[in-house]
Amino acid sequence: MENGKNPAAATTMEKIVSLAKRRGFVFQSSEIYGGLNSCWDYGPLGVELKNNVKRAWWKAVIQERDDMVGLDASILMHPRVWEASGHLEGFTDPLVDCKNCKQRFRADHLTTKTCPECGGELTEPRNFNLMFKTYMGPVEEQAAVVYLRPETAQGIFVNFPNVLTTTRKKLPFGVGQIGKSFRNEITPGNFTFRTREFEQMEIEYFVKPGTDEEIHARWITERLNWYKQLGINPDRLRVRPHEPDELAHYAKACSDIEYYFPMGWSELEGIANRTDFDLKQHAKYSGERLEYFDQETNEHYVPYVIEPSAGADRATLAFLIDAYHEEPDKDETRVVLRFHPALAPIKVAVLPLSRKDELTGVAKEIAQELRRHWMTEYDDAKSIGRRYRRQDEIGTPYCVTVDFDSLNDKAVTVRDRDTMEQVRIPIAELVPFLREKLG
Ligand code: GLY
Repeated sequence: MENGKNPAAATTMEKIVSLAKRRGFVFQSSEIYGGLNSCWDYGPLGVELKNNVKRAWWKAVIQERDDMVGLDASILMHPRVWEASGHLEGFTDPLVDCKNCKQRFRADHLTTKTCPECGGELTEPRNFNLMFKTYMGPVEEQAAVVYLRPETAQGIFVNFPNVLTTTRKKLPFGVGQIGKSFRNEITPGNFTFRTREFEQMEIEYFVKPGTDEEIHARWITERLNWYKQLGINPDRLRVRPHEPDELAHYAKACSDIEYYFPMGWSELEGIANRTDFDLKQHAKYSGERLEYFDQETNEHYVPYVIEPSAGADRATLAFLIDAYHEEPDKDETRVVLRFHPALAPIKVAVLPLSRKDELTGVAKEIAQELRRHWMTEYDDAKSIGRRYRRQDEIGTPYCVTVDFDSLNDKAVTVRDRDTMEQVRIPIAELVPFLREKLG
């Protein structure tokens, strides 16, 4: 993977997995039972980080735009949806088994004709559908089969007429949604990068046919800028157009926004031109007209769709990895997560210099006031130096220290995570000061 042109990865996956567990970002699912392969739980800091990523996405693509609305469709959908969408027939990966060690692999990921683990003989590839199947109701019979959605997109397509009628939007307009999807991946891995249960942040942007290519290009730029604006090192981002043989069955073109993860360039988000494939398929299978009436030209047509489809878990992992910095600090190494303030799980920590009651009382009052505005931690354990290090390691942008002078001058010291500079601020001005800094 490495070549002269690649950037340096921010850190190793081992360091991220270890920090994530040690500080409470991500735990293995069902850990006390030995864990469940490829399933992960977001801990107290991880859920804040991921929520902040989702909030930043929603703000950028829904709240701040006049041409976008939101949706939250159900995970279980009518089974005909997956016939119409082509997933029942074509959402497969080629699977091979090793006849010797019984391990399974994706045939298209293998570079050898024998088992990469033991050199054993492999079976012929067979198609394996990635959708999770379950039963609706108490009877496990064919008529009750439903699927856990493999993409949130279909919830948007089938609601196209509902959204159109209720919002009276004109083309071009889009619908965004965040939600869980499920794929029975043959080879999940790389921590939270490829998991069987994952969360998507998807947009289906409906456009007049003929304008699709220009609008596709615009979305690629917009989405790339979103990652940059939230602090990802631009050297570790790139756009990679798909080769014709990698395109999904519904796509005319697709470009991936990739991040240089510790395992190499990997997809954060795919931005596809899905044409009118899905709306036409659903019209055919449901018998409903899924068209748009263009009042300017007085014609009915089926819109084309541009789909920026991002992974919430992948974005969260990329923001975590990219924020990771190690710096020499006297005889030690300072580990600091330089999160953009909008993403930092904890925005401010309040630290009394000592555990004396007169300091802890004031510090707790300040923390309680700050909690009304931001995720705030109060910490009075161990030395002040160690508490600063802990906050650096979880990416808290500001620490507020209450010392004995605070009792007289009614002021506190505010320490900046990145510069480590300290300024004295009157307690009465703390909220406006932090509001300006945190944005
Ligand atoms: N909706 C596109 C994808 O899930 O990959």
